[in-house]
Amino acid sequence: MSDYSVVLLPGDGTGIEVIEQAKKMLDIISEKTAVGFNYESIECGGKHYLDTGKEWEEGSFERCKEADSMLLGAIGWPGAIRDNGDLAGGEIVLGLRSGLDLYANVRPIKLFKGIQHKIHGKFNSVWDSSNVDLCILRENTEGLYYGALQRSRARSTGETLFESPSLEFPGLSGEIAWDPRPISKNGSNRVISKAFEISSKRNGAPNDGISRVTCVDKSNVTRGCQLFRSVFDQVANNYPKIETNYAYIDAFTMWLIRNPEEFDVVVTSNMFGDIATDLGSVLQGGMGMAASGNIGDNHALFEPVHGSSPKYAGKNMVNPIATINSLQMMLEWLGNRHNDEQLIEISSKVTQVVSDQIQEGKTITYDLGGNATTSQVGDDLVKRISNLLD
Ligand code: IPM
Ligand code: MN
Repeated sequence: MSDYSVVLLPGDGTGIEVIEQAKKMLDIISEKTAVGFNYESIECGGKHYLDTGKEWEEGSFERCKEADSMLLGAIGWPGAIRDNGDLAGGEIVLGLRSGLDLYANVRPIKLFKGIQHKIHGKFNSVWDSSNVDLCILRENTEGLYYGALQRSRARSTGETLFESPSLEFPGLSGEIAWDPRPISKNGSNRVISKAFEISSKRNGAPNDGISRVTCVDKSNVTRGCQLFRSVFDQVANNYPKIETNYAYIDAFTMWLIRNPEEFDVVVTSNMFGDIATDLGSVLQGGMGMAASGNIGDNHALFEPVHGSSPKYAGKNMVNPIATINSLQMMLEWLGNRHNDEQLIEISSKVTQVVSDQIQEGKTITYDLGGNATTSQVGDDLVKRISNLLD
């Protein structure tokens, strides 16, 4: 097997520090096993835009497209906004989602044993970790992000920038800003099908072991959601062994926190998924633990769910585990795609070392109640995997 090529996109702020830890993991895997990684880093992001006038250098999109996979740190920096109001750095995260058709944003919410939850400002509760093991799929190429996605992609590919068509809004006066929220049958079909596929490979919901896909929408109010739900019903017919379930997004946020054990796989539209997964991270110990994969049929970009945390940037403080968990997802995805059993095995060892590190509880970052640095956690994880790979 030849080496896997990976583009690393550290991006902004703490994104740079967490990607350093992922690099060390890739290095040790290359050193200790027959699986090789050949990675390149591309400087990018909002700060890069402020410094250079470009979100990343020309040709970067193509380099990402040619690689076997991508791993991103974080995008966003205070004041990094383009003249038209768009997020500077959007060209990377949104441009790749749209330009490479990464239609499913897969965000597992899994609680590792031993995590202390910080609720109401105190580390005062440890939950039964077996109750939290679900996976949220967020549609990633349309919905309320449509305009921003199209504009971000156009910057990399040189297409004409998309602008919302002008419309009359009877009853409103003065200046109006609006974002279209198109939801297509095809776009819904592919992400919903992916949700059922993922459910068919999992162990069901923690409470009863039943494979169940929940459609989260606001179909009592919006037309886009009505279409989404009707496509959900059509797709569900192809998976008679998987139970279906429905929730409106508002009530879902409550059930997610009160009864996470009832959920196996959840599928929802773009903006709802963005919000629900930040909330969901609380169930797994916070944003320092939450991993994701932006997955299409031919490409995939993995990234922690958290942002660039400017407040902590350069302080070597943030939790690198969300990125290591994203790296784990990347290895598993590459392993499945290339029928590489060894890589799939390595990916489960990454999960093992994260789990051991947390259960031991000695070297953990502030967000989990410890005082270890980003690089101490990274080094420990490297030592642990190095031992496992011997
Ligand atoms: C995320 C982030 C992005 C999003 C931002 C950085 C554009 O919040 O990946 O969840 O809104 O999708
Ligand atoms: Mn988000």
